[in-house]
Amino acid sequence: MNILAPSILAADVTKLGDEINATAKAGAKYIHIDVMDGVFVPKLSYGQCVVESIRKCTDAIFDVHLMIVDPIKCVEDFASIGADIITVHLEACEDVAATLKKIKECGCKAGLSIKPATKVEELKPYLELVDMILIMSVEPGLGGQKYIEASTERISAVREMINASGLNIDVEVDGGVYLGNLKMIIDAGANVIVSGSAIFRGDIADNTRKFLDIMQ
Ligand code: DX5
Ligand code: ZN
Repeated sequence: MNILAPSILAADVTKLGDEINATAKAGAKYIHIDVMDGVFVPKLSYGQCVVESIRKCTDAIFDVHLMIVDPIKCVEDFASIGADIITVHLEACEDVAATLKKIKECGCKAGLSIKPATKVEELKPYLELVDMILIMSVEPGLGGQKYIEASTERISAVREMINASGLNIDVEVDGGVYLGNLKMIIDAGANVIVSGSAIFRGDIADNTRKFLDIMQ
């Protein structure tokens, strides 16, 4: 099944609840929440307070993307305030396996992400511990960047690796996805699509429906 995960990084914070509801009502099943610490990535975004607050306005699945160093420290917190999926960066963990296990112990689905320069083979030892792999198709940390074309091959390679393992793992893609490259990304093997600017800039409901039409 293909799933749309609108990234609220591109939403208007003054209308966050309304904008989340607009995309959810139009059919988006996940809400992608980018947590940045100003260390793993240059900028800060938001943390537990915001997640806890928006949890009250929607039943959508919260797909929390932790762009923070040593994320194991925050896993329990995000799980307790309503995260459904917690994704950590392979490059940011001191102990990747322990972090993924902790996410599962807290009752969440576990995601593992890699930056564009990290080899997809590095994911292999952790496949048994994850529900989702997140392939970054831009450098993490900023919305509105251009999709890195080499990501398409990486998506295919990860999908092949998963198929060969016989495991049931989602492949999520994040960064620079818009209506024009969406089909190519799905065809390459992604089934969870993050999009910020292309959903929240303009008519949110209409953008969401257009994405979902292509993703069927
Ligand atoms: C970037 C974030 C993304 C970002 C995507 O580091 O992880 O989720 O919001 O934004 P767009 O879709 O605008 O590239
Ligand atoms: Zn993200």
